[in-house]
Amino acid sequence: MTTFYDMAKSRRSVRTFDGKGVSPEIMDDLRSFIDKTSNPYNIELTFEILDAKENKLSSPVLAGEKVYIAAKVQKQEHAEEAYGYSFEAVLMHAHELGLGTVWIGGTMPRDKFEAAAKVSDNEIMPCVSPLGVTADKMSIKEGLMRKGVKADTRIDFDKLFYDGDFNNPLNEDVARVRSLWEALEAVRIAPSAVNKQPWRVVIDGNSAHFYEKKDKSFVGHGDYDLQKVDIGIALYHFEQELLCEGKKPKLEITDPKLEISDNMEYIATYRW
Ligand SMILES: Cc1cc2nc3c(=O)[nH]c(=O)nc-3n(C[C@H](O)[C@H](O)[C@H](O)COP(=O)(O)O)c2cc1C
Repeated sequence: MTTFYDMAKSRRSVRTFDGKGVSPEIMDDLRSFIDKTSNPYNIELTFEILDAKENKLSSPVLAGEKVYIAAKVQKQEHAEEAYGYSFEAVLMHAHELGLGTVWIGGTMPRDKFEAAAKVSDNEIMPCVSPLGVTADKMSIKEGLMRKGVKADTRIDFDKLFYDGDFNNPLNEDVARVRSLWEALEAVRIAPSAVNKQPWRVVIDGNSAHFYEKKDKSFVGHGDYDLQKVDIGIALYHFEQELLCEGKKPKLEITDPKLEISDNMEYIATYRW
């Protein structure tokens, strides 16, 4: 059986496409998946499929893409986490359907994309993604982009995940014994803006407390915190792997009030 972790492991950001676009059948499948998509925050996202040519859209890091998917959400508390969770659900489904995608939050002419997606004043549209079939060969700029953000590496397991509190790094062997290695590894390999991997998780029995470690050098956007979108992605990866393993994770916001450093913020807890 293919687990969520296996799917997550076979994903990478795709920035070079075959130039042929997406077949109507695949697009129909994606649209019906979008209709069923929800998140534990019960915050609704609006997805827009945007034709590149019709809307005169392009991105300096992409090549060969014909269509984009964009998502908007009303400005509100937890909008970013809900956004990361739901948009990642759609992008992982696209991956399952054989499409390449990449979260784009910065390297795009934002005004043009927001106009095409008709983003209103009370909404935010942190990201878009191209949708298409991965080209046989990466463009030179894609290769350089991956090198620039060290896209093929991740922070070590025991620097991201902790046991009980932030003084005790969680050893990978201990995580395996507790049947948590795959779910945490699915978080570790998830995509994040500039590959900053801001997620930190403290395991406490059958609970996992998720924190955001804010990067000081990260140039944000006034209306939202893109690193909270990353945490939403992490929540989705963790939950989906636990579901694959037959567990029943429930998201709650009950801050355990652990000792944390200044640049950290408690986000949410999965209990199963
Ligand atoms: C919220 C978010 C925003 C991102 N924005 C961009 C972007 O503007 N341009 C880009 O080329 N990649 C962007 N990425 C992709 C990351 O650079 C990529 O996920 C990371 O380098 C890890 O590489 P991988 O996805 O291939 O594992 C973004 C990813 C996330 C999650």
